[in-house]
Amino acid sequence: MPHDSPPPPPSSVLSALRAGTQTLHVALEKRLPFFSERLDLECYKQLLAAYYGFYQPLESNLRACTLPDGFELSTRLKTPALRQDLRALNVHIPSLPVCDTLPPLDHPASVLGVLYVLEGATLGGNVLRKHLFEQLGLDTDNGCAFLYVYGQATGMQWKAFLDFLGSVPLDAPSRALVVHAACSTFSCFEQWLERQEVLL
Ligand code: HEM
Repeated sequence: MPHDSPPPPPSSVLSALRAGTQTLHVALEKRLPFFSERLDLECYKQLLAAYYGFYQPLESNLRACTLPDGFELSTRLKTPALRQDLRALNVHIPSLPVCDTLPPLDHPASVLGVLYVLEGATLGGNVLRKHLFEQLGLDTDNGCAFLYVYGQATGMQWKAFLDFLGSVPLDAPSRALVVHAACSTFSCFEQWLERQEVLL
């Protein structure tokens, strides 16, 4: 029996998500100031506050909606880590603006698309975390918990999410809803960050 069988091909919904969101990811990544020369502590605080203004209402909506069967949201919420960072950086959380133009969650397929973006966004975190430690001396206990929210379990959490995504039965219209919601999540997030004037 062969020992190193090739990894299974990505599920068709995952391929569609990657194809549908790749351009949006590249565009947003370029505009985020993490690797910019202008990144200082003040700029980072403003960026994190803007992230909070998007994640907090979106995760609050996720908690209130019908989740796809078998998905455990409570262990995947990122707002607590954002709060922890903002408190560590002495940002007054109740004064922060929150976004009211959020992606749709009116169908379990749309919820999946939103979750794909929020889960995938943890993947760049390790690179960002190392950079922030080098640039600003920030670590998980003094302002950088969100960017390393799953710590060493990041890969495992992502794999578990992909297994879950691949296990949900989706017909073609539902797959289109998943991709639409994922694209909408990227767009709403970018537009919100733009309005908060934290993008390059
Ligand atoms: C400067 C900021 C960012 C960097 C450096 C970054 C970097 C990365 C990296 C290295 C990966 C893994 C690619 C791979 O393993 O093949 C990734 C995947 C991903 N990122 Fe980002 N990212 C950033 C911002 C974001 C943001 C803000 C979001 C969404 C809110 C996001 C959503 C995603 C998604 C959904 C994936 C999964 C793609 C897949 O299906 O494999 N990223 N990112």
